[in-house]
Amino acid sequence: MKTMIITGAGSGLGKELAHLLSQKGYHLLLTGRTIEKLATTKKEIEAQGGKVDILRLDIGNAEDVTKKVEEISHTYNIYGLVNNAGVGHFGPFVEMDEHHITEMINTNVLGTLLMTKAVLPQLLKTSEGRIMNIISTAGLRGKVNEAVYVASKFALRGFTESLQKEYEGSGIKFNAVYMGGMDTPFWDNSDHVKDTSRFRSPRDVAEIIIEQMDQDSIIIESKKS
Ligand SMILES: NC(=O)c1ccc[n+]([C@@H]2O[C@H](COP(=O)([O-])OP(=O)(O)OC[C@H]3O[C@@H](n4cnc5c(N)ncnc54)[C@H](OP(=O)(O)O)[C@@H]3O)[C@@H](O)[C@H]2O)c1
Repeated sequence: MKTMIITGAGSGLGKELAHLLSQKGYHLLLTGRTIEKLATTKKEIEAQGGKVDILRLDIGNAEDVTKKVEEISHTYNIYGLVNNAGVGHFGPFVEMDEHHITEMINTNVLGTLLMTKAVLPQLLKTSEGRIMNIISTAGLRGKVNEAVYVASKFALRGFTESLQKEYEGSGIKFNAVYMGGMDTPFWDNSDHVKDTSRFRSPRDVAEIIIEQMDQDSIIIESKKS
């Protein structure tokens, strides 16, 4: 069975993509830092007949990424990677906590780059597979009180577009996914958005992504602005 790795699969969009990719027949390797959340997702998918394994993996930790991807490459037939894990901290740039700046760059940018660097050679060996980068409309345009988050997501846009060109004809499909707000735990500790109920559900967004997986860029604007 072909294995798809999903980062940050214990909640929100990652969890919904896991459900839908399982229905497409993939074996899933769900990763994140909180094993309890991953175990719940695994249980739900297995109850529907899906095949799932879980792995504690902090994408902000370079050693963790390299070591664990090397280990799993001997166990699974890795076909794809969904770089979904991400964090956001918002507010006026001059008031931004340095720790939060580092966390966003380490997770959103460095984590995605390291995961891709670890997994891509496995896909190139078989000349097939896919890497899907979950970005945001924050990767398309600047936004007030989102400077660092936007910077991290613009970096992923450049990264994805470059790999699309660099590995054209390799058999590997790269998707850049730009969505507006989703009603997920992403906003739990933030007052940047007052009412997340006006956002699309992560299930709706996941369904649109799966429908459009053949496109290089998938743009899903917010339901309401
Ligand atoms: N919600 C929105 O409005 C929105 C809009 C556009 C784009 N996005 C993007 O969509 C993606 C998914 O976010 P979401 O809305 O579904 O939020 P979410 O429910 O908070 O999911 C993010 C997941 O990432 C995991 N994660 C965070 N840091 C990690 C790390 N260092 N290593 C491994 N896993 C890590 C978290 O689990 P652990 O803490 O257990 O590791 C969490 O399950 C993110 O890239 C986000 O930037 C979100």
